[in-house]
Amino acid sequence: MLHSCYGINEKGHFTIGGVDTTVLANKYKTPLFVLDEQKIRENCRAYTSAMNKYFVDGSTIHYASKALSFKGIYKIMSEEGVNVDLCSLGEVYTAKSAGFDLSRACLHGNNKTDDNIREAIRAGVGEFVVDSFEELEALEIIAGEENVVQKAFVRITPNIDCHTLKAISTGQLDSKFGTPIETGQAEKLVRRALELKNVKLIGYHCHCGSQVFETQPYVNQTEIMFAFAADIMKKTGYAPEYMNLGGGFGVRYTENDPQIDIGENIRLIAEKEKEICKKYNLPEPKILMEPGRSIVANAGITLYTVGTVKHIEGYRTYVSINGGMTDNPRYALYGSKYEALLANKASLPKDTSVTIAGCCCESGDLIGENIKLQKAERGDLLAVTVTGAYNYSMSSNYNRVPRPALVIVNNGKDRLAIRRESYEDICRNDI
Ligand code: LLP
Repeated sequence: MLHSCYGINEKGHFTIGGVDTTVLANKYKTPLFVLDEQKIRENCRAYTSAMNKYFVDGSTIHYASKALSFKGIYKIMSEEGVNVDLCSLGEVYTAKSAGFDLSRACLHGNNKTDDNIREAIRAGVGEFVVDSFEELEALEIIAGEENVVQKAFVRITPNIDCHTLKAISTGQLDSKFGTPIETGQAEKLVRRALELKNVKLIGYHCHCGSQVFETQPYVNQTEIMFAFAADIMKKTGYAPEYMNLGGGFGVRYTENDPQIDIGENIRLIAEKEKEICKKYNLPEPKILMEPGRSIVANAGITLYTVGTVKHIEGYRTYVSINGGMTDNPRYALYGSKYEALLANKASLPKDTSVTIAGCCCESGDLIGENIKLQKAERGDLLAVTVTGAYNYSMSSNYNRVPRPALVIVNNGKDRLAIRRESYEDICRNDI
């Protein structure tokens, strides 16, 4: 099995967190997202324990909740003592509704409108990640009007190639995010931030991309960001209290993907950070990281019911399911690879190779091609693994398909965390 929370029980059924998925499917129906709470907590702790070990006190993670945002996840993060990264007012609202202390949240976005800025300040968001000059000036004015001194990072683009898909790379110079070092604009942005009354610069932020398997881009990014910080210190005397190195560690979706050792990655980043701080006489800042995928992806699965199984002689077998791109658009969007199994036949050999097709009226609605699977028949329960990140959060109502429910399992118990959408929900804004 790809991850430790997955298993097969004595009935030959697929389990997550020790819970029989066929029982969950009977109880909650399909399609269904299932998350293992203990795995999420374990992933958080892999970060926090390594960060406590290698970085100065006060270093921590901000869970990037774009990976999966719903009230229950903010409760878990709150209990784990983890901060959160929010990237829209919708996420701000969700976190606040869950009772999350927003002073422990930061707000991202390459285009925060004046209304967004004001609402986020009023909601009490602790830190802004300022993306551009325009945003910095707007924040200064609005924070002044709201009578607050708003803590902020500036987002810097270090110009890193992290060898992931273009669509999910962010640290390159030519990006909609952040302000580049190489053009001199980052220095100007920092100098301006230091002049302001209503914005308090607390440090720098960068993020190179997502689903990154190599450690070297992080080491390079650390070197560039700290050299930048040292240069600014030399010129202005300003030393950052925080350095936010972003998220992006890769996750194992298939047997062909490597397993990332979070602690070892952090140790290597820390080694470089300490070397550079020493070299430039820069006081070691508190380090922040923003993992999303590596906190929730492997803790999640999706359960579907198999419908039509169609074999086209000489071509391929389509196994159609009662979900698809509406709950998991990642194959359609990025060609992302997944593994699947028949949860009710989990101990049988995977001796067929199939295309898993969704039920939308669109040929590109596939979960994957050439997927190894037990022999499928109508009524089987199909599980797609590692769907905890960027599935529910990217789901849609295309074809007016309702979003699935999401269930959390924890130490053998299950609880509903997001209700299944109804057809009334789908029409609720129609006039
Ligand atoms: N911080 C910032 C500023 C980000 O832009 C992101 C992801 C993260 C943290 C979290 O990265 P993670 O640890 O999750 O890799 N929808 C795409 C992924 C887009 C990621 C966008 N930014 C996908 O399904 O692969």
